[in-house]
Amino acid sequence: MKVCIIGASGKLGRYMVQHALDRGYEVVGVCRPRSVRKLDPFRGRMTVVPGATCDSAVVRRAVSGCDGVLAVLVPWGRRHYAARTAQAVIDFAQPGARLVFSCGWHITRDGQDVYTKSLKRQEALARWAGRLTGLIDIDDQIDACRRVFNSDTRWTVVRGSDLDEGESQGLPIWRRHVGDPALASNRTRRVDFAMFMVAALEDDTLVREAPAIVGGRG
Ligand SMILES: NC(=O)c1ccc[n+]([C@@H]2O[C@H](COP(=O)([O-])OP(=O)(O)OC[C@H]3O[C@@H](n4cnc5c(N)ncnc54)[C@H](OP(=O)(O)O)[C@@H]3O)[C@@H](O)[C@H]2O)c1
Repeated sequence: MKVCIIGASGKLGRYMVQHALDRGYEVVGVCRPRSVRKLDPFRGRMTVVPGATCDSAVVRRAVSGCDGVLAVLVPWGRRHYAARTAQAVIDFAQPGARLVFSCGWHITRDGQDVYTKSLKRQEALARWAGRLTGLIDIDDQIDACRRVFNSDTRWTVVRGSDLDEGESQGLPIWRRHVGDPALASNRTRRVDFAMFMVAALEDDTLVREAPAIVGGRG
């Protein structure tokens, strides 16, 4: 399988590169030119396409011939960064490719998620801070996911809980809705978030699902 990882140089991205290589996949990674050196540990084992991950021409080139695309959606700035990344993947991935996107629990597909007061406060704070500083735009990630949900592609939107570093605890569990008691811990190791993203490429039960995940040990 040939997979493209968009946002490959980030923390989640590098874990996904490692998992994909471990599975024997051919890997193409997109990252900002200034971050290419962060992929040095994988030199010779993957192809790097330097460029903005929201640049449709860059994405088009990178996803060409790929059976799967793993896209890290991050709502940087106020210029629709995440929505442009998502749209480029939807537009240019080859027909039938598996598309797997990352985001957080705050994204809801059907409005059936149940959020604690603390999660609602966190989102409100992030939205307020983003408006004040211009550094992030939570609504951009919401727009990105809406585009994915409305597309007729073979997508999965993986909704991550709060993340920790540390050794793998195995494949995270998932539920359709935040608020399910099984998700109570609200913690996942980043390495396992990446494992779930990569495993989703070959898990057809996750097609057109938006799994909310937590670490395998709950
Ligand atoms: N952090 C959490 O606690 C958390 C919780 C739940 C879900 N998630 C989800 O997990 C995914 C990964 O999040 P993460 O926190 O682990 O981050 P991450 O993997 O480190 O990813 C950040 C990405 O954004 C890029 N980036 C950083 N600054 C940028 C800028 N100014 N302009 C454009 N791109 C920039 C990075 O590229 P460079 O390598 O070039 O810097 C990297 O590709 C996201 O989809 C997020 O919604 C995160």
